[in-house]
Amino acid sequence: MIADGARRRRADQRGETTDESHARLDDERIVAAVTDAASRGRIPESHDPETTTCVKRPTYVGTVRMYVRGGSQALRVIRSLGLVPPRHSMLMVRENKMASTIAVAEKKSVDAARHAFTNDSAFMIAYERAIETEKKGSDGDSSEVCLVDDPFARMLAGNKGKELSDSFGISAAPQFGLWPDFHKQWTVVRTKFIDDHIARIVNEFEASAICGEQLQFLNLGAGLDTRSLRLKAMAKITTSYEVDMEAINGPKGDLFEAIGAGSEHPFLCQRNIVTANMTNDGELEASLVESGFDRERATIVLAEGLIMYLGDKAETFLKDVSRIVVASGSWLILNFIEHPALTNEKVRELLMRGGWKDLVFNCFGDEVLDYGRFDKSYEPSKAFSFVVCRKD
Ligand SMILES: C[S@@+](CC[C@H](N)C(=O)[O-])C[C@H]1O[C@@H](n2cnc3c(N)ncnc32)[C@H](O)[C@@H]1O
Repeated sequence: MIADGARRRRADQRGETTDESHARLDDERIVAAVTDAASRGRIPESHDPETTTCVKRPTYVGTVRMYVRGGSQALRVIRSLGLVPPRHSMLMVRENKMASTIAVAEKKSVDAARHAFTNDSAFMIAYERAIETEKKGSDGDSSEVCLVDDPFARMLAGNKGKELSDSFGISAAPQFGLWPDFHKQWTVVRTKFIDDHIARIVNEFEASAICGEQLQFLNLGAGLDTRSLRLKAMAKITTSYEVDMEAINGPKGDLFEAIGAGSEHPFLCQRNIVTANMTNDGELEASLVESGFDRERATIVLAEGLIMYLGDKAETFLKDVSRIVVASGSWLILNFIEHPALTNEKVRELLMRGGWKDLVFNCFGDEVLDYGRFDKSYEPSKAFSFVVCRKD
């Protein structure tokens, strides 16, 4: 158990050093210093040198187990020995009635984790969320209305995100008949649109819920989505099921860990990472069942930037989602590109047959998907569409 929750953890992390000249804390130094201190009586009597152990694990610099009461006392002991955790490390203190364990975990480098993550478009989207977030300025103030607040986006995007975003805008603008910067604005608009819908649905559900029942969240093709870290409404969600392919989920886990997600930055709800290739028949359903997805529970389903990658399996995908998500009170937020094989009419027909009701369609530049960010000298673009609907 992490001692005393977030308050203690923050205090622990203040033990991080920023001084490169500090000696690196490694297994041998810990053992030597703690054993030596114990032999000189500098560690409380209850300390048992036998239990002073170092556990070598790939991401752990070392673990010292001391028979002292309370994590903060253990920390004082560690510091009094002149041991300073390395830069980019964090101290984690676990304690039980008898012992405190201090683990010095070396965070993976964000650069290395980003390098191993191969989904380029996710970096681009993260970068576009970052530049919007940074309009806020360091004092939290902005002359411009800032529609997205994603403090994790910059760390996730790296340099690659900017390169991709700048070149994509220039190459894709003529194809979609839009202005060169359009995609940066589209990312902001769609993020805001989805965030607002989630907040609304969660609040409405809470107001009518029986016995504090909670929604679950199903994020299909989640990529580097940060909602379970940053969107307040997610605190009222029981579990977020984030589905993506195997090639994405492993490196994504490392990248999130590297930016401190789940440690310095706690997730707002329980999170379940699900691996499925949604073009393989039956794989989504089987993976969700295996991961504990609750079909009886009302669910918010999000498919943002996904269906365009599913090719001729798009129809099957919509049928699958309609069959898997059956609970009354569920909502679907689907982002799609309208094209001859997947027109609004086709999407409407498939979803209505799947039991979805009250379908509302919007496209980039109409009166809703605008937020003052669409250049009105262009026509609204059905290439960037949404449908939002529910089951009752
Ligand atoms: C453009 S990204 C969108 C990510 C995120 N939803 C967002 O909007 O920021 C598309 C995501 O869909 C995932 N994806 C594409 N085809 C998939 C498939 N057949 N099965 C599972 N995931 C898929 C990709 O791996 C990627 O993470």
